[in-house]
Amino acid sequence: MVLSRALGPYETTAIGLGCMPLSIENHPSEAVGIETIHAALDAGCRHLDTAWAYYESGHEEQTNEKLVRKALESWNGPRDEVTVATKVGHYRNFTDGEPTWAVDGRPESLIRHGKESAKALGVDAIDLLYFHRPDPQVDYKESLEGIKDLLDEGVAKKAGISNASIEQIDIARGILGDDLVAVQNQYSPIFKDTQDTLDYTAGLGLAFVCWSPLGGFRKAKDETKFDPFRTVAQAHDVSYQQVVLAWELAKGDHVFVIPGAHRPATILDSLKAGDLDLSPEELATLG
Ligand SMILES: NC(=O)c1ccc[n+]([C@@H]2O[C@H](COP(=O)([O-])OP(=O)(O)OC[C@H]3O[C@@H](n4cnc5c(N)ncnc54)[C@H](OP(=O)(O)O)[C@@H]3O)[C@@H](O)[C@H]2O)c1
Repeated sequence: MVLSRALGPYETTAIGLGCMPLSIENHPSEAVGIETIHAALDAGCRHLDTAWAYYESGHEEQTNEKLVRKALESWNGPRDEVTVATKVGHYRNFTDGEPTWAVDGRPESLIRHGKESAKALGVDAIDLLYFHRPDPQVDYKESLEGIKDLLDEGVAKKAGISNASIEQIDIARGILGDDLVAVQNQYSPIFKDTQDTLDYTAGLGLAFVCWSPLGGFRKAKDETKFDPFRTVAQAHDVSYQQVVLAWELAKGDHVFVIPGAHRPATILDSLKAGDLDLSPEELATLG
């Protein structure tokens, strides 16, 4: 059994599959993508994280949402148990020939993309729709009014915000009220700048979803930050990635992790992190 937690109204797994690597640059074949999602679901994962913008710059849009739909439609398990979260507010572009993540937080764009997300996922209403990232060109409140319209129209059942500060969480609460159920921020041993929002969401009863919980795969990272996790992993005879995820989950019952994977083996290993009990002494050494 994969550790289960309440994410707003959904009883789902605290460890979800971050689907982004399955369709951005250097993604595996569609067959391996579907195999990876099926492996996660077969192992008990009930939480998939995708986004409108998870496609390769210059290629077909929304390929990750379409992959998630295809995987769910071809899966023999209980589809209604799976919470699918997606995000709007980003699109892919190029800067100096390099693929980039551009933002568009205009309410009309968010509304259009939200409707396209529901269509690509093949649902009447999206379980959880995040506003992906604040757009410096658009007043944050205005963007959130777009998300509220999608809730009011029934395109999404519940909302979240991502890459948000405490101030933005408060603005979102004011506009979305109880329909705001989650904050998805970067959090890992190499990135703890969002600790204030992790602590703040605990007091509000909001889920805190750690993105790139293993430090990500797109940029080189300071590997020494993982050394204490490697030491603890040796004592438990597990991967250090499991220790990282278990350490994050121990930060509070409102914490979720969405490790990414390009293949079944890595997500299958990550899903075991919920069974790993770290002692108070071990947690203290990990910080
Ligand atoms: N809201 C946002 O703005 C935002 C931004 C970035 C990401 N996200 C979400 O967060 C998810 C996770 O982030 P991420 O994919 O960037 O990075 P991540 O989860 O920190 O790291 C993924 C990498 O870790 C490896 N890995 C995963 N589990 C492992 C295990 N048990 N043992 C060994 N290696 C393991 C994977 O290996 P393999 O490649 O070998 O499978 C992959 O290369 C994304 O998929 C996406 O859904 C959200």
